[in-house]
Formats: sequence, C-alpha cells, structure tokens
Amino acid sequence: MSAPAQDRLAHVKLGTYYVVPLAESDDFEGWRDQARRLLMADVPPDRVAWTEPGGSAGDLFTHGDRRLPTPPVDAPQPRVSRRFMDIAKTVILHSDPERFSILYRTLWRLQTRPRLIEDAADGDIRKLADMARAVRRDIHKMRAFLRFRETKDEKGAEHYIAWFEPFHHILRHNAGFFVRRFANMRWSILTPRGTLHWDGEVLREGPPATRADAPTGDDAEELWRGYYASIFNPARLKIGAMMKEMPRKYWKNMPEAQMIPALVAGAQAREATMVKAGEIDMGERPETLAAIEKAIHACARCPIGELDNTAVMGEGPRGAPLMIVGEQPGDQEDQQGRPFVGPAGQLLDVHLQKAGIDRATAYVTNTVKHFKFTPKVTQRGKRRLHQSPTAKEIDICRWWVESERAIVRPKLVLALGASAARGMLGKTVSITKARGTAHPLDDGSELWVTAHPSYLLRLDGAAREEQQRLFDADLAAVAQRLSELTDA
Ligand code: URA
Repeated sequence: MSAPAQDRLAHVKLGTYYVVPLAESDDFEGWRDQARRLLMADVPPDRVAWTEPGGSAGDLFTHGDRRLPTPPVDAPQPRVSRRFMDIAKTVILHSDPERFSILYRTLWRLQTRPRLIEDAADGDIRKLADMARAVRRDIHKMRAFLRFRETKDEKGAEHYIAWFEPFHHILRHNAGFFVRRFANMRWSILTPRGTLHWDGEVLREGPPATRADAPTGDDAEELWRGYYASIFNPARLKIGAMMKEMPRKYWKNMPEAQMIPALVAGAQAREATMVKAGEIDMGERPETLAAIEKAIHACARCPIGELDNTAVMGEGPRGAPLMIVGEQPGDQEDQQGRPFVGPAGQLLDVHLQKAGIDRATAYVTNTVKHFKFTPKVTQRGKRRLHQSPTAKEIDICRWWVESERAIVRPKLVLALGASAARGMLGKTVSITKARGTAHPLDDGSELWVTAHPSYLLRLDGAAREEQQRLFDADLAAVAQRLSELTDA
C-alpha cells in the first residue's frame, strides 16, 4: 500500500469491522455511495459486512461499527469504469447475500488493477459475470412467462393479477417494462419478494404475497392456450431447448404450458400432416392486424424481447397499395409505440413528400418488432444506442412482417435498408445492386429496395447530398411504379 494510503488508514480503527445496512435488497445507489465512502477511507473489503432487509451480517460482525469512517478531505476519488458500474447495477439484483462484498472487493482491487474487469480468468470477475447472467435470465423469464389472470374488483371493474416467483430481486427493475406494456390495464403482480400495483396512472409497491393471494384460472386462459397451440411448431420441436427456455418452475403459472405434454405427443402426427401439405412454418398466420399486434407483444422468440422495450406494430390502412418497411423501431418509436416517428421518420416524411407519396395512404412498419439497443451513460444522461439486429433475429421476426403483408396485400413494398430487404427476401442483398428495380414477391407484388434514412442522417457534406439524390431517385421511381400498378 502507498504511503498516503497508509496515512489515510490511520483513522480506521484497528480491528474495527463495519456493518453497512442497505435500505433495500436492490439498493444500488446505497451500495455505490457507501462503497465510495469506505474506499475513500481505505477500509479494506475484509473489514466490511453488508446487510440487506431480512438478512444478517453474520456472527463475526455482531459487534461491528455502524458509523462509517469519514474519509479524509484530500482522499482521491475512486477509479470506477463504466463497465464495472454496469455489471454492478445488474449484480446488485442477484439474491446471493455475498454480492455486495464481492462487488466491493472488486472495486477495491480495481483501484490498483484498472484492467481487472477484463480478466475473465479471475475468480471475482467470473463470479460477477455468472451472477449478472443469472439476473438477466431471470429478468427475461419474468417478462416472457408472467401471465395475468382477469379478476373483477369490488366495483366490478377488470383487474388483472399475475403470480410470479423470481429467483432474484428483479421486481422493481421490471416494473417499467410492465407499466409500458400494459399501460391501459389495471393490474397487480404478486411475488414472494413484494408486489406491484398499477391502476392505469400510478404504480404502487406492496408487501410480499403468497400464491394463495393470486387467482388460478379465468376465461383468458383459453385464449392463451389457443394462441400457444397456434404458434407451436412441431417441425422445430427441440424438447431440451424448450425445457431450458421454459423451465418447469414457470409451468404452473402458464395455462399454455399445461398443453405441452399433449402437444409434444401429437407433434409427430401434426408434423407429418404439415409436411404433406407443404406448409411447415411457425404456426398458422394470424388473420387480423389486431391479432398480430397482440402476438408481437407476447413474442419472446429472440433475445431482443429481453430488453426493456415494447413491440411496435405497423400502422396504416389495410389494403394500402404501398407498404414501407424499416429495420426496427428506434428509441422514439419504442417510447411512442409507433413506427418512424423519430429523426429517421421525419427525414423519411420529407423525402416521401418530395416524391409525391402521401404517407397516410401507406402501411408503414418494420421487419423487426422490438428496439435492439445497448444502454450507455453519456454526459447528456442515460441513452439507448441502436444496435443492428443479426440476420438470425431478422429471420425469426420476419414471420410478423410477412403476416402483416399477407393481410394488407400491398401492390408494392418498399424496403428501407439491408435489414428490411433481408426481412422481405429472406436473404441478404446489397442495396447498391438491388436498388432501382422491382423484385417479384410470391404473391405477385413487387419489392423495391433503397437506403435507410438513418444512413443519410449519419452522412454529411457531399456524401450526404449524393445519397439523398439516390434516395430521391428511388422514391420517384417507386411513386411512378405505384401509379402504374394502381391505375392498372
Ligand atoms: N428506423 C426504423 O427502421 N424504423 C423505425 O420505425 C424508426 C427508425
């Protein structure tokens, strides 16, 4: 230890152990503030015991000091990387009582080994990574497998109640997700770790509940069962993967899970019938746009749905002659629940107008239904940075955009950018090569391909002017072709 550090340690009472109580089990800010203070006062990790409500500091710390030392005024600020903080925010939600200590020990070690976090062979780093993974999985499972059951309150109004048993302290973390996704419903989520209650305007927290507090069945279960049976695809049946995704623990809360044994048993026969009919697919296509909208909100077929986002449905008239397909909703679209309302949408509107295309007469949608992003803290605050979907994610999600197309039945589809083009064609094409010409689709309609407006937004100067010129030319050709097709 350095000499100044030795000096600072002088005021830490020799042999003193500190007990740090946290207000809540998921109290990241509390842990961070106390950890910073302990670090600045040079209190080594083995002198600190962290406690959470309902937990204990252990015998060793029964006589620990609850008044933390005040750091010297000249104590340097701790070094903390963004990466460590991001991991810490997730790990705090883990149910292991040791998490606070491991985090503090890592923080302590990071002061002299700033690159420690990159050392995947280090025991603490490995443990933190495992814990973060387990928490993320739990967050995802809650979003994918929680099921509301309809009840009536004392005034006869609908109130939906769900029972869920999380492994970790993820309830509060997931609150925003459920509020956004079920904003118009009145609901309660009951768990053994606490409860959430949403009345359409205000979210309240309540004490832990038991399973007996939750209803066990209602009419809505038939709908869930029907939906699940329709998306159940025998051709893709992989029992191991299915059990991993939907562990038995969740089955009792999920009406559709009770059908799994029967569906598995009938799968081979059903597959044979489907093969004969040449229609192996992800199930039957939804028949209405409303059914697609409902289904995409429940869709957890790829990890993008694991993120804190909301599915965004296409909008526009059924029977629109033109369907415009983008890549995926952005930050604004995710918040407003509508496609192309952010900066790329505004630029698109300008160019559509220039080409004489009335957006209101088109059906506007995306090939991927959820916003894929990575969280980032910048000087301007927290931001969600767009991430492109992988080819696999596009291929999984194209089921929905294809279902929309089957209902809207446009004469011409305009794909904006490479992801949208892949979504429509099922293969990757180069925009440069594919633009400016019609590509026939299976139902006799035509696909036209152009650049994505976000691409234009990222350029400037002469490069932007050139790309705008090409974009305008593509839209003008689409407008021309559309008038031919609609006049015919
Ligand atoms: N980018 C897209 O591809 N779609 C939107 O809805 C918004 C931005």
